Amino acid sequence: MFITLEGIEGSGKTTQILHLSNYLKNKGHDCITTREPGGTCIGEKIRAVLLDSNNKDMVPATELLLYIADRIQHVAEIIRPALSSGKTVLCDRYVDATLVYQGIARGIDVELITMLHERIVGNLRPDMTILLDLPADTGLKRAWKQIHTGARANSETRFEEEKIAFHEKVRAGYLELARKEPERFRIIDADRNENIVREDVLKALSL
Ligand code: TMP
Repeated sequence: MFITLEGIEGSGKTTQILHLSNYLKNKGHDCITTREPGGTCIGEKIRAVLLDSNNKDMVPATELLLYIADRIQHVAEIIRPALSSGKTVLCDRYVDATLVYQGIARGIDVELITMLHERIVGNLRPDMTILLDLPADTGLKRAWKQIHTGARANSETRFEEEKIAFHEKVRAGYLELARKEPERFRIIDADRNENIVREDVLKALSL
């Protein structure tokens, strides 16, 4: 089973993926938690380049190809082997993030991104995707608070520094994807207490 979590900055994906992983492990499931960008040694290096706030000159196509490079490595090295050995994979972001951030928000043709994904990464799609939804300004405030308190790396702020309009496009983009694939997506209102969101995530997955 391949489960992904998606959402804007500050939506609480990292917290909720941890809750979900603990819950599944307590129930005896063999599961791994991973993330994009990152998840492999090579991917962590790509992540550092992608999120470095000094890399303001990065053009959208460079950004897109780095996310795809990260994903090819991640799928080959971590996701496919784990799924083949019967593990549940919980992944913090996957191709939906590229469709929304690089496609809808940056303006790269979404069909091109889909084609590149299918031709280069393959046809691996999540069985279920949890979309943690909340207003962009609330998410951004949370994200900056985490950065200022040291709970999030302050070297990884290139996206948080984008204007609010960018984050609003990302949120709307995710909701649009979710509307197109209601059988795969579960939309959860993430503008609530962490434990209530946690319960809703478990319910959404019928756990
Ligand atoms: P995160 O680990 O805090 O979710 O940060 C990753 C950042 O990378 C986040 O701002 C979203 C962005 N991103 C993309 O723009 N495209 C992608 O394909 C992925 C996986 C992430």
